[in-house]
Amino acid sequence: MPRYTDDSKEKVRDAVDMIALVSTRTELRRAGVNSYFGRCPFHDERTGSFHVRPEEKHYHCFGCQASGDPFDFVMESEGLDFVGAMESLAGRFGVTLEVADEDPQARARRERRERLHTLLDRAAAYYARYLWEAAEAGEAREYLAGRGLEEATLKTYRVGYAPSAWDKLLLVARQAGFSEDELLATGLAQRSKQQRGQIYDRFRGRIMFPLADARGRVVGFGARAMRENQPPKYLNTSEGEVFHKGSQLFGIDLARRAAARAGSVVLAEGYTDVLALHQTGIENAVGIMGTSFTDEQAAELERTARTLVLALDADGAGQEAMLRAARVAEGRKLELRVVALPAGLDPADLVQREGVEAMRERIARSVPFVEFHVERVLARAEVGSAEGKDRALEELRPLLGPLPASVLRDELVRRIAGRLDLSDQLAASLLGEGAAVALPGASTGHAHASALAAAPSGPSGGFGSGRHASVAPPPVPVALDRRERGERTFLALCVAFPREGRALLEEADLAQHFSSDLARRAAAHLLAHAAAPLDGLPDDDPELATYVSELDARAARGGSARPGNLEHAWLTLELARLERAIERARHAAGAGTEGAPSISSLSAEREQVRTRLRHLSGRLQSA
Ligand code: CTP
Ligand code: MN
Repeated sequence: MPRYTDDSKEKVRDAVDMIALVSTRTELRRAGVNSYFGRCPFHDERTGSFHVRPEEKHYHCFGCQASGDPFDFVMESEGLDFVGAMESLAGRFGVTLEVADEDPQARARRERRERLHTLLDRAAAYYARYLWEAAEAGEAREYLAGRGLEEATLKTYRVGYAPSAWDKLLLVARQAGFSEDELLATGLAQRSKQQRGQIYDRFRGRIMFPLADARGRVVGFGARAMRENQPPKYLNTSEGEVFHKGSQLFGIDLARRAAARAGSVVLAEGYTDVLALHQTGIENAVGIMGTSFTDEQAAELERTARTLVLALDADGAGQEAMLRAARVAEGRKLELRVVALPAGLDPADLVQREGVEAMRERIARSVPFVEFHVERVLARAEVGSAEGKDRALEELRPLLGPLPASVLRDELVRRIAGRLDLSDQLAASLLGEGAAVALPGASTGHAHASALAAAPSGPSGGFGSGRHASVAPPPVPVALDRRERGERTFLALCVAFPREGRALLEEADLAQHFSSDLARRAAAHLLAHAAAPLDGLPDDDPELATYVSELDARAARGGSARPGNLEHAWLTLELARLERAIERARHAAGAGTEGAPSISSLSAEREQVRTRLRHLSGRLQSA
C-alpha cells in the first residue's frame, strides 16, 4: 500500500469542502457563522445533533459522540481505511497525491503491483465480455438465468466466462504487452508439468467471479465448473503475489457503503448467495467463500460494521462455521446474529424458491448468536434423563454466564426451563446469575466510555464474552425500537446524575413520556431511589430488578457523560411526547372530537423544544 506524503494529506484536507462532503450523507442547515447542523448520518435520530464546523473541517455528534476530520468521516461512512479515504477524497476534490520517500526498490514493487492489478482488471473485463458475447458462453448465460440471477446483478459483479480453449487469455494479454512472468504471478496462467516451458490459461470453460479488495481492485478469481465431470466445482486463483484467500471477502467492495450505512454486514458462504442477496436489495452482503471464517476477514469487517449477520447454510458445516465465526469474533468489537435458514437451502436457493420477501423477512428476524447457540444445545440435548439434562445445563452455563441480566437472558432461561421440563426458578439457579446482577453497580467490562451517551442496542446484543454487547445498532429495524432506547438512555442518565435526574423525573408525566409499563415502573422506582437505585427493589418484580440493574451498570460505565447529555435525552423524550400529542390532536380534529388540545399550541411547544435542543447541542459542542 502506498504511503503518501504529509504534505499530500494537508493538501487534501485544504481542498475538502466539508459542507459538500457531509451533504452527500445528510441535509445540513446553517446554525451560525462557521457552523452547520443536521441529522446525524451515523445514528438514527429525529433531531439535528450532528454539527459541522467547515472552517475547522470538523464534525461532532452529541447523540452518538461520533467526531473527527474529513478522513474520519469518509472512513466511518464508507468503511474505508485511511489510505482509501485519502484516495477517495483526493479524487473527489481534485488533489494529486505524492508517494512518500520511495526508494527505487519500493517504487519498482509498487509499479509491478499496479501492473498486476491492471492485468487482472483487464482479464475480468475480457471474461465478462466473453460471457455476454461468445457463442460458447450461451450455456453459461442460460445456467445463470436459470438460477434466477439477473443480467444487471451479474454485470454489477462483473461475472464472466473463461473460454474453453487453452490459450485465449494468454494471447490477448501478450498482445497487450504483458509478460509470461506477469501472467504467472497473477495466477491467470500456469506452467504445464509435462512439457516444461509451456504456459497455458488456468481458467477454462468456467463461470468467472472476480474477487476484488475493499477498494475494488481485482486480485483474483473464483471459477465455477459448468459440468459435473469438470472437478473441482470451484477453482480459485492460487495463493500468490496478489491473492490471499484467507483475507478475501467476496463482494466487500460493493458492500462497503451499504454496510457502513446499516452498521451491519450479511455474511454468506457462496458467490451466488451474495449475488442473490444483492438482487433482493440486501446490498451489505459479502461471501466468506467456503466455511472457514478467518481472523483477517474479521479484522476487515470490523473496520466496516459492528454487526455480523450470519446467513450460512443450515447444514452441519454451516453450523460449525457459525461457531467458528463466534470464536474468531470474540475479543473484537463485533456483534453476531444468526439468520435461520431451512435445512439444505443456502440464501441463493431460498431466494429462488421462496422469493425476495421471504429472504428479507428471515434476515429481519435474525437472532443474537447466543440464542442460536442455546437452541443448538437444546436441540441435541437428551431431555429424557436427569443426567442428560445436567449435561445440557453444563453446556449452557458458559453461554449464559457472561450475559448481563437482561430481558433476553431471562427469556432464554425460561426457554431452557420449558424444554428441559424444570421450574423457571430451578433453571435460573442452575444456570447462575446474569453478569450485571452478580456485580451490582460495577462495570461489566464494556470498554466503551461513551456507551451511556450513545444509543446502545440494549439487551439484544451479547454473545460469547458479552464484552461488546451494547455497542452495535440493531442490524435491521427490529429489536429494540428507537423510542425504547431513548427512554433507557434517559433513565440510565438519571442514575448517573441522581439530583438532576430526580428533578426531571418529577416533571415527567410517566404515562406520556414512557412507552412501556416496565419503563414507567422503573421511572417511578428511580423517583424514590435515584441515588441508590438497587435499594428498595420490590421482591415480586424480577423484571423491574433486571431493568434497573442494567440501568445501573450502564450508568457505571458511562464515564464521559455530562449533565448536558441528560438534558439532551430528556428533551428528546419531550419532543417524542409532543409529536405523539400532535398526532393524536390531528386525529381528534379529523374525527371532530371536542375539547382536544389545539394543534397550534402543541406545535409551538414543539418548536420551543427543538430550539432548546439546538442550543443545547451547540453548548455541548463548545464545552
Ligand atoms: N468454495 C471454494 N472452493 C471449493 C468449494 C467451495 O472456494 N472447492 C467456496 C466458493 O466460494 C463457494 C462457497 O465455497 O461459493 C460455497 O460452496 P458451495 O456451497 O459448495 O457452493 P455454492 O456457492 O452454493 O455454489 P452453487 O450454488 O453454484 O452450487
Ligand atoms: Mn448454492
